Amino acid sequence: MEHPIYQKAEDFIRQYYKENGFNEAACEARLAEICLSIRQSGTYQHTSEELTYGAKLAWRNSNRCIGRLFWNSLSVSDKRDAASEEQVKEALLEHIEYATNGGKIRSAVTIFKPSENTGDPVRIYNHQLIRYAGYRQEDGSVIGDPHSVEMTEFCIQLGWEGKGSPFDILPIVIQIGENEPYLFEIPESYIKEVQITHPENVTFNELGLKWYAVPIISEMKLEIGGIDYPAAPFNGWYMETEIAARNFTDENRYNVLRDTAKAFGLNTQLQSAMWKDRAVIELCTAVMHSFKQAGVSIVDHHTASQQFELFEKKEIEEGRNITGDWTWLIPPVSPASTHIFHKAYDNTWKSPNFFYQASLFEKSETQKNTCPFTGVSK
Ligand code: ARG
Repeated sequence: MEHPIYQKAEDFIRQYYKENGFNEAACEARLAEICLSIRQSGTYQHTSEELTYGAKLAWRNSNRCIGRLFWNSLSVSDKRDAASEEQVKEALLEHIEYATNGGKIRSAVTIFKPSENTGDPVRIYNHQLIRYAGYRQEDGSVIGDPHSVEMTEFCIQLGWEGKGSPFDILPIVIQIGENEPYLFEIPESYIKEVQITHPENVTFNELGLKWYAVPIISEMKLEIGGIDYPAAPFNGWYMETEIAARNFTDENRYNVLRDTAKAFGLNTQLQSAMWKDRAVIELCTAVMHSFKQAGVSIVDHHTASQQFELFEKKEIEEGRNITGDWTWLIPPVSPASTHIFHKAYDNTWKSPNFFYQASLFEKSETQKNTCPFTGVSK
């Protein structure tokens, strides 16, 4: 059958049966069933086992992820039947609670309905389910996370009022079909955060940094066997450099490198004295120390690289070629101290996978042109 969905379905189904050692006749029977369904309706439905394995493969195929050794232990929650805003909200809160697990983080994905022929799609506006707001000030500076400025302004337009602190948790905004966006706050009891302190330097602690425990990416679409799942939030646990060397350090994020250097008495006038490098290591040390002390799962970049090396070895043993995006796999701190730096990776994107999709903000231009006070279009 020459149907674009069928080709992809066949590739995925054959892989699913083969890797699990299932019977070939059963595979052919399943393919015939899918073929018929696509002929009749233009699409097909995954069984919950196919969905589970497909999501695991999507993780295994995520070229930018250094944490893929654990792909097979992903916990998959099938919420394709969540149809109302209330049901989606409940499923998202359940995900946060399950993944957080009191600090012993569990990798998980929650899959909502696919985009084709199944009624109104579910979409999530947030980049991550838990994320700090960023408030643009009149002078152009930002209080909070500059990465969240657009989302924060959108929430305010919808009637949300943030406290205006550097670490306000954004509400979650979802949309079902053509319904109005639906906004809700995550109850505080669901959110685990870690105060960032340094094991040796109390002056550093005065910076008052903290970060949330679980990164749950919620804006990407999951594609399995030709079927798109536009809402499929997924999480792992943090590698310390993500928080220390990027979220805190990037000049267009929290930008605290100079303050950190000062807390350590480093001379920030002389860049050749490596104050930036020394400060970023202190931030990594503080993040690692704080998460460990709080009993929240985290991995350092050296251990993560070793785990990735083991993943590569296992994949080769299974007769599979591994794909990766070198520019993302190398850690931002001391990259050449890891094996990843010293080799090349094939950056072909296999399917199933998690893909970027058009941002909802572009789609909601009408909302942007609407007066926030009266709701009247300009
Ligand atoms: N880098 C992103 C952040 O700092 C999170 C991306 C996913 N990370 C992960 N360890 N699963 O929030």
